[in-house]
Parts: sequence; structure tokens; C-alpha cells
Amino acid sequence: MSKRLLYILAVFFVCLSCSNQKKDSIENKIEALVSQMTLKEKIGQMNQLTGMGLHADMQNQIKAGNVGSILNETDPKIINELQKIAVTQTRLGIPLVFARDVIHGFKTIFPIPLGQSCSWNPQLVEDAARIAAVEATSTGIRWTFAPMIDITRDPRWGRIAESCGEDPYLTSVMGVAMVKGFQGDKLSNSTSMAACTKHFVGYGASESGKDYNATFIPETQMRDIFLPSFKAAVEAGVATTMCAYNDVNGVPASGNVYLNRTVLRNEWKFDGIMVSDWNSIRQMKVQGVCANLEDAAKLASDAAVDMDMMGMAYIDSLETCVKSGKVSEKQVDESVRNILRLKFRLGLFDNPYVKIESKSVFYSENALAKAKQAAIESAVLLKNNNHILPLSEKIKSVAVIGPMSDAPADQLGTWVFDSDPDHSITPLMAIKKKYGSKLKIFAEKGLSYSRDTNPAGITKAVAIARKADVILYFAGEEAILSGEAHCRADISLPGAQSELLNQLKKTGKPVITIFMAGRPLTIENELNQSDAVFYAFQGGTMAGPALADLIFGKAVPSGKLTTTFPRMVGQIPVYYSHRNSGRPAHNILLISDIKIGAEQTSLGNTSYHLDAGDKSLFSFGFGLSYTTFSYSAVKLSKSKISENETITAECTITNTGKVTGMEVTQLYICDPVATLAQPVRELKGFQKITLNPGESKTVKFNLTSKQLGFWHQDNTYRTEPGEFRVWISANSQTGEYKSFNLTD
Ligand code: NOJ
Repeated sequence: MSKRLLYILAVFFVCLSCSNQKKDSIENKIEALVSQMTLKEKIGQMNQLTGMGLHADMQNQIKAGNVGSILNETDPKIINELQKIAVTQTRLGIPLVFARDVIHGFKTIFPIPLGQSCSWNPQLVEDAARIAAVEATSTGIRWTFAPMIDITRDPRWGRIAESCGEDPYLTSVMGVAMVKGFQGDKLSNSTSMAACTKHFVGYGASESGKDYNATFIPETQMRDIFLPSFKAAVEAGVATTMCAYNDVNGVPASGNVYLNRTVLRNEWKFDGIMVSDWNSIRQMKVQGVCANLEDAAKLASDAAVDMDMMGMAYIDSLETCVKSGKVSEKQVDESVRNILRLKFRLGLFDNPYVKIESKSVFYSENALAKAKQAAIESAVLLKNNNHILPLSEKIKSVAVIGPMSDAPADQLGTWVFDSDPDHSITPLMAIKKKYGSKLKIFAEKGLSYSRDTNPAGITKAVAIARKADVILYFAGEEAILSGEAHCRADISLPGAQSELLNQLKKTGKPVITIFMAGRPLTIENELNQSDAVFYAFQGGTMAGPALADLIFGKAVPSGKLTTTFPRMVGQIPVYYSHRNSGRPAHNILLISDIKIGAEQTSLGNTSYHLDAGDKSLFSFGFGLSYTTFSYSAVKLSKSKISENETITAECTITNTGKVTGMEVTQLYICDPVATLAQPVRELKGFQKITLNPGESKTVKFNLTSKQLGFWHQDNTYRTEPGEFRVWISANSQTGEYKSFNLTD
């Protein structure tokens, strides 16, 4: 062995032992503490309470050792006071960890996560989470209940706003980006906060898109669709996870021994905290699986739930469970270890207090610039007839209309407890500021909020619209219409917004509609009434400047949808990666075309809805630009691979238009013959590239045989030999595939 090799090996072993020692030293400290703790102190660590300021009750609970963590306390002075009680007035001085829902920003608000996912830009998403962490930790909050990485295919569900959409791969990538952003380089840095992947698991499948509802998820689907984003986050080092409210096939997630213990802990070796959702342990009684609180506490503890968020189930009854032998103290110790581990990892034993800086870190120039970029890249251009966008310099006047045109709070979206809408820049403000001196701007909301039906406003808005060259119509949903427990059975545009659009259309002026909403809405009619359409979701603090830049061509749209948009609510669930039926849709005869008294046989007898056909309004991955891109045929590096080999797929993309633009290129595969029918296409990779006019770039994707497998009914993940199809395309519906073979 050469000297150099010996040296490298020696360094390697020294490093390895250092890192083991470090790990050991945390584990040793944990053991030392646990061995000194009384059962009551242990259970106290497992209790999370909501903030009450400096209320005497809270102080007494901390002194009594009944609190391990506090959520929703955001005043740094109070945080330090409460921490001081924990550190100096309890027997073992174990610090508290302060938590908050920092979902898409703390003060500076970024687009709702569903919007951010449409950027297909993980670095931008990571940066947004980093900025949120810097702002939030400055107040002493070191734990966020984000990212939400539930897969959902139901826009009725209000929490779709918090998700990254319908696809497991994309959600995994975005979830990991958020975890990295929140947690930073090292959890013990003062600007790092523990991330919390939620909701484990299956919450996005709540029946009928109604919050907290039951889910029915076969094991293979659980493994292929709902678990991968959580696994990816565990592999990326996520510090905590939260269990869901729903039941999975009848077993509540808060008491799901199989998913929480067997899969998350034992298979994936997750050693962070699992926190319950708010009161979700106690709620298992109502869900119908526990007769009393003791049973609920036992079930949750058996299911490896370490901390009880505001349910008081552990504090009220875990001690009795241990004393009666229903729960072993060993099991309680496991949870306490996980909780202490987080506190050590966050460095709270060494630095329990937040340093209160005299200079605020909120709404920094950098944060606002990133928030604007994120809002730009989140907006999806859905229609642009006759290239009406970007607006021509020749335009002399615009009418800015609609309830979302100047709605500082609503453009922030759901889960923004800490932000100040006074910092929001609305589209109207941005357009006035930037173009007020060059253009005549007429402004009239028409409807004062999204559900408004007052016709008086419509008349006024139409009157001013007539005076302008172009109408910019900002429609959508108020923030309150999406988010937790804010589900809708009818996902059309609320209030009289469609009527207002009809009236605007009748003026004969070009209408550009910009939707700012928390979910995909059924907008087929509105799409037809508009000359151009942006879907901008709720874009956050800087939504206005971002949209102004897009409308006037200072920025080029690059967002692509991460959920399929249904034409009608009855199509739900509708998603790109469906399986083929034995009778894929063809010979479509719509209800309007069926002759009276026609024979059953006149119908195609294939898989579609008589009134909706088989197509969604827009598919996953779709989005237009101000330029155009052409895709070459896909080239594969080999015609066959064997197990453990990699194949490379490549494609050359050319900017065939006149402006520089960014394109999201998407890699899909299909396994056309398998023992379990597989999706017609599945996303396996993507790259966002920038191309100047006329420029070409070749994108290359490596596909490993491991990415070709799926979960089988015997609960193993494996590939099956045979043909695989590969697309590199602009969205989930276009492109030609190339095939290769996976050999035995
Ligand atoms: C309930 C929600 O389901 C969860 O996502 C959130 O983190 C907690 N409440 C705490 O606010």
C-alpha cells in the first residue's frame, strides 16, 4: 500500500471516529440526563403547549416540569423569560424548544408552497426557506412545522395550497430543498430551525377533499405515492415529523404503529421527534378507536409519537399507563431521547436564549428580491392569444380591475400569522409605481372581495374598463378560502367574478386575467373569455411587482403546473400519472351530441365522462413562455441495461423564439407491461435551463435501474425486466418516447 493511500486511510478513520465521538457525545449526554429524570419529568418533556405569553399558568407549568416545548410564542423577550424559567428553575434545567408554523415565510412571505413548486426551481425554494428561518429564528423560534409534503390530487382540499402538488418525485425534491433551507448547514447554528415534514401520512388523500377525513390507501400506493417524499426528507436529515389527523384504512395516523414505528423508525431509522398534530392523540377517541384517554395515550406512544401537541393526553394519562404496565417506561424513554436529541442538536443546552438584535432582519432587501423572484417563477402562463403578452410599449392605458388587484392580505395566502400586510405590494401599487408616469391607469376593483356579488361595483368597473386600451383583471380567492379546514366542494371562481369578467369581455377590449388563488379553480369559461391568462396562485409580499414585471415583459414566465387542473369538479381525482383502463378514451361522444333515443351502442364504451370528456383543462407540467422551445428526439445511451446499471437519456432543446427564456424540461418514464399496472407516465427528473434566442442546450438525465421499480403486493420494491419508455418533454402530455430494455 502506498504511503499516500495509508495517509488517506488514516485521515478517514480519524474523521470517522471524530464524527462517531461527536454523535456519541450527544448520545452520552442524553443517557446521562435520562438516567436522572423522574417519570413525571420525562412525560413533561413530551408535552407541547401553546403560548400564553407570561401568563402565571404557563410559568407554573414550566416550573413544575410539565412542558417540553411551546408553540405559537413569537415575542423574543417572552421566549427568553420562559426559557429562563425552564433553564434556571427546574431541577434538570432542560431548555424548551419554541415552535411555529413558518410555512412560506415568516415576515417576508413567499408564494404559497403550491405556487413555489410551480417554479420547478429547488434552489429558489431552498433560499426561500432559508430566509424564513433567518427571520423566524431572530425571535427565538427554532422549530417550524414545515414542509408539508403530502401528495394531493384533490383541489377541493384547502391544504392543497400548502402542498407541492400531485407528484411524489417533485414533492420529494421540493421537500428536501425546504428542509435544507430551514435547517441550514448545521442545526446548532443560531439561524437554523428544525424542519418538520408533515403530515405522516396520507392526509392529502382525505376523502372528497374534506379536511381530516378518512383515507383508504392500499399498501402499494402508500409506498409508491405517499411515502417517498417523507423518506427522501429522512434521508436528507429532517429533524422532526408530524403525524396526520386522518386515519389510514381505519387506523388513525396518530396511533399507527405500522407506519410510524415499523416504517418510519425501524425501516428508515428516523431518530428525530414525531410530534402529534394539534390534539390528535385525544381525538382518537372521537375517531372511534379508543374508549378513553388512557387508551389514546397508550396507542400514540405505541405508535412512536414522542410529543403531544396541545392534547394533554400524555400529561394527563401516560403516567397511569406506565404505572399500570400498559406502557413500558422504556418506551417513554425512547421518546424522551428523541426530544432531548433535538434540543442537543439545536445547541439549546449551550445557547438556550435568543440574542435580541437591535437591527431587525425582517423584510431585508435580499428577502424581498428573492420573494419577487419566487413570485415570478411561480406564475404560470396558461394562455396568450396573439402574443398579447407582454403588453406592447404602444399601449397608452390600462384598466386594473378585480378583487385581487389590490388585496394586500389576500395575496399572502394561508398560514401567514406573523406577516404584516402593510408590507405587501399589490399589483395595483406596483403598476402605478412603475408605469404611472408612462401610462394612464384606471383602477376599480369592481368587487371588493372575491365572494362579493354586489352589482354596483361591476357597473363602475365596466365603465372605467371602456376607457382603457387593455383590461388587467385580477381574480381569484381570498386567503381564507384555502388552508386548513377551508375546503370547497365547488371550486369555481367565487362571488360575481365570472359575471364581472363577462361584462368586461363585452367591452370588446382585450382582457388579461390573472388568477391569484390557493388552489386550482375550474376556470374553463373564464379561460375562454380571456385573451391571456396567468395563474399566479397567492404570490406573497412581492406578488405585485412580480406580476407587473411579467405583464410588461421585464420578466419572462417560466412556471409550470404541478397539479392537473380539472375542467369540472366531477373529474376529481384527475392526475397525469393515472393508469390506463382496459378501455382508454376514444370515440368520445359528449352528452350534448347524443341523439334523443340513441342506442347504447352509439357510445364508444370507453373511459370518459359524458359531460367532461377525458381531458383535464391543463395537465401537470404545462406552462407557456414568451418564447418557444423545440425538443429534439430523445437519445438513449444504450438499448438495454441490466440490474444496477445506469442509462443516460438526452435531448437538445432550442429557443426558437425571440426572447431569452427559462424552460423546465421533464423526464418521464413508463413501464408498459408489469405485474401491477403502472402509470401511463411518471416524472423521474427535471432540469430548468435558460436559453437565449436561437441557443440550444442538451439536457442529460441518468436513470438508474433502481428508479424503474415499484412496490409489489408482497411489500418488496423491485424492478421487472422488459420494455421501458422514456420521454424528455415540455409537459406530461407531449413528446415522443424512446424505449430500452431492462434485462434479467
Ligand atoms: C394543525 C395543522 O394540521 C398542522 O399542520 C399545524 O402545524 C398545527 N395545527 C399547529 O399549528
